[in-house]
Amino acid sequence: MSLEDTFTDVYDQDRWKHQGNPRSGIGAGPAFVGPYIETLAPLLRGKRVVDLGFGDFTVAKAIIRDVQFHAYTGMEIVPSMVEAARRFENDRVTVMQGNMATAPLPPGEVCLIRQVLQHLNNDMVKQIIDRVRSAYSCVIVTDQIRGRRNTDVECGMNIRKFGLFLEKPPFDYAIDELVTVNHDRYTVSTVRL
Ligand SMILES: C[S@@+](CC[C@H](N)C(=O)[O-])C[C@H]1O[C@@H](n2cnc3c(N)ncnc32)[C@H](O)[C@@H]1O
Repeated sequence: MSLEDTFTDVYDQDRWKHQGNPRSGIGAGPAFVGPYIETLAPLLRGKRVVDLGFGDFTVAKAIIRDVQFHAYTGMEIVPSMVEAARRFENDRVTVMQGNMATAPLPPGEVCLIRQVLQHLNNDMVKQIIDRVRSAYSCVIVTDQIRGRRNTDVECGMNIRKFGLFLEKPPFDYAIDELVTVNHDRYTVSTVRL
C-alpha cells in the first residue's frame, strides 16, 4: 500500500478518532494545542509558515485564528483532508496535496511538522528532516513521547513505542526543546532544529 493509501485508510476508518478526539487524534485536542500555539506565536509572527501533514486542520485553525503570520501553506498527503480544508483558503492561507518526503516543498521561513514523524519509519524521518532543514531556516517538530529512546515503526496509524528523539541514535540532530505538555497520560513534546 502506498503512503497516501495508508493514511487515507486511517481517515476513512477514523482510526485515530475515539472518545470524542479530533480525527487527527488526541494530540490535536485543546490541552495540547493551547500551549503549542502560545509558545510558537512569537516565532511565527510575520513569517511564511509551512505546515506539513496538517491532518484534520484542527491545529491549523488555531494557528490561523491566534497567530499573526504573514502566510500559511499546508501540505497533506490525504486528498480528502485537503479537499475538506479548502474552505479555509484565502489570500494568506493555501492548502495542497503532497508527500513531504518527495513533493516540491512550499516556500517559507518556518516549517511545522506536528505529530507526523511519529508515524513514519526511521529512513523516511531522516529523508524528511534532511529535506526540510535545507529548505527552511526554522524547523519545528512535535511528537508524542513515552520513553527516552528510538525504536523503528512501520509507516501508518501506529506511533513509535517510546517516541521520537531526533538527537539520539539512529539520528544525530541538534535540538532545542520548546515546550512539552503532559496531559491525561500523554506527553507531547515540541523541539526546534
Ligand atoms: C496524527 S496526524 C497530525 C495532524 C496535525 N499535524 C496535528 O497535529 O493534528 C498526521 C498527519 O500526517 C499526514 N502525513 C503522514 N505522512 C505524510 C507525508 N509524507 N506527507 C504529508 N502528510 C503526511 C497524515 O495523513 C496525517 O494527516
